[in-house]
Amino acid sequence: MASLTSMTKVYHHAPYPAISPSNPKNNQAGRTVAITGGVQGIGYATAKAFIEAGAARVIILGRTSKTLQDAAEALQKTAKSTQVAWRVCDINSDESINNFWKSLASDHIFIDALVLNATSGEHGPITPMLPQMPALREMFNANVNGNALMTAQFLEQSKRHVQPQVLINISSAAAHVNPAPTQALYSSSKAAFASLLQHLAEEVDASTCQIVTIHPGLIPTENMLRVAHPDLKKVAIFDEGKCAQFWKIDCAKSC
Ligand SMILES: NC(=O)c1ccc[n+]([C@@H]2O[C@H](COP(=O)([O-])OP(=O)(O)OC[C@H]3O[C@@H](n4cnc5c(N)ncnc54)[C@H](OP(=O)(O)O)[C@@H]3O)[C@@H](O)[C@H]2O)c1
Repeated sequence: MASLTSMTKVYHHAPYPAISPSNPKNNQAGRTVAITGGVQGIGYATAKAFIEAGAARVIILGRTSKTLQDAAEALQKTAKSTQVAWRVCDINSDESINNFWKSLASDHIFIDALVLNATSGEHGPITPMLPQMPALREMFNANVNGNALMTAQFLEQSKRHVQPQVLINISSAAAHVNPAPTQALYSSSKAAFASLLQHLAEEVDASTCQIVTIHPGLIPTENMLRVAHPDLKKVAIFDEGKCAQFWKIDCAKSC
């Protein structure tokens, strides 16, 4: 298994006051946040952190009404002032994505911060390659094309309402770790979308939209335990509640 290049001087293994949702400097009052894949795992924990930080509205997105409704109800119970809502939005479907943004426009809802957290598709080796082509297409359709359409629609809002925005892309160290057995489809899709956002960030003025890509750390979520290589599972040391606080600060700084 490959080791990771250190990007920072200090590795944190627990939240600290500067990034705490209860720190008044990170207050999210007045902001509406949408999170793809907000039903469970990292997306759900991110929703909780934004609620704790006092966001005006948190909208969780996913593919199934029932699980969304249950998750939104559980989140609402943790909220003091935040309105928690849910909407169906499948990042694998252009129609579903476009319907989601149309429904927001007709309800006059502006998304201040969008967290692109959902990931879709099966992990596995890329060989033999020909039979893997449908899986490769599916992975790229969600993680690259779907996320790109979400981003485009998010930015399009500025035509009807000018307000600073923040886009948070939950990527993965897998985007740049090599070798990473059985991760070819996932890793290459994460790398492609991170690259796309890097180029987009060059063209979009940071005062209108701050674009941030983050690796959340290794967290033993349902998805991670299902798809990860056994060596990775052994070193998953965070939980999603802790890691969700690590990126909320970026939104607080730049919104
Ligand atoms: N866990 C880790 O160690 C780790 C490490 C690096 C990066 N990440 C990244 O962190 C993010 C979250 O991972 P996780 O481990 O929390 O995953 P998870 O527990 O499996 O949660 C994924 C969420 O995405 C939703 N989802 C799946 N397919 C979707 C689709 N086509 N459209 C909309 N929503 C969809 C699922 O909800 P429904 O099934 O109800 O739609 C679920 O709520 C991913 O981008 C992942 O690549 C995780």
